[in-house]
Amino acid sequence: MKLVRALASATALAVTIFAASQASALTVGFSQIGSESGWRAAETTVTKQEAEKRGIDLKFADAQQKQENQIKALRSFIAQGVDAIFVAPVVATGWDDVLGEAKDAGIPVLLLDRTVDSDKSLYLTAVTSDLVHEGNVAGKWLADTVKDKDCNIVELQGTTGSSPAIDRKKGFEQGIEGHANLKIIRSQTGDFTRTKGKEVMESFLKAENGGKNICALYAHNDDMAVGAIEAIKEAGLKPGTDILVVSIDAVPDIFKAMAAGEANATVELTPNMAGPAFDALDAYLKDKKEPPKWIQTESKLYTASDDPMKVYELKKGLGY
Ligand code: AHR
Repeated sequence: MKLVRALASATALAVTIFAASQASALTVGFSQIGSESGWRAAETTVTKQEAEKRGIDLKFADAQQKQENQIKALRSFIAQGVDAIFVAPVVATGWDDVLGEAKDAGIPVLLLDRTVDSDKSLYLTAVTSDLVHEGNVAGKWLADTVKDKDCNIVELQGTTGSSPAIDRKKGFEQGIEGHANLKIIRSQTGDFTRTKGKEVMESFLKAENGGKNICALYAHNDDMAVGAIEAIKEAGLKPGTDILVVSIDAVPDIFKAMAAGEANATVELTPNMAGPAFDALDAYLKDKKEPPKWIQTESKLYTASDDPMKVYELKKGLGY
């Protein structure tokens, strides 16, 4: 009889502990842009891993590059009463209404990797790199590399209206400022994809004497650079030598290209935005500790002298 009672109370205790842990598990909705780049794929992988590590129930929604899908996903997260929302906003404008709805519902919103032009009171924090600084580093690298030589630059921009496209353009222009020998002669969006990067580079090459007028390519991400490298090779020129290539992200494939002498420099963007975001959310929910409005991740320049094959080996299994 004693044994039966002991077993019954042990079961009751286990049920209580299970119920308590179920009750405290957080549910976070994550509206991801899509899968336009290797970097984006890695961010998705890392976010899922970080959620799992912390026992968080992550509701994932892929917006297939469309803001309207992101807004729908946010509304559905609000209706489900999630504890918090993560969003990587595809473009910077048009978020006021839905962010206001989340705020009215008492659901904190955390921005990942891109910013919006809404009032800061509408979101808890933004975890991003300094996107202007990234462009600046790329521009300064190019200015230091070409020195006094005249250099016509073509630029592949990211998604029109996205904060990285706006800020990386601005930063690069600041980086080459005061160097009259450096000129951006063509600039067009490649939408952060390899296919578009290749396509637009082909049109640049055609318009610029088969590429002979071009000294350097600046791409707002590595995927567009990798596409453009293919186009340059198909035009019979040597990327990395005839046309210098500088881009942003530090995905494994750009290190392969660097090792082959076909790319010259990249600025690293960490795919781990979720880690700092979950930490900030945890502190906010537990202790009502307001995080800073901007949690800045680091940016690092890599060039061909940084043993690119070694970096490739280190990065290749990380979900890119
Ligand atoms: O917002 C970050 C940018 O978005 C990455 O640099 C790019 O690859 C991506 O798709």
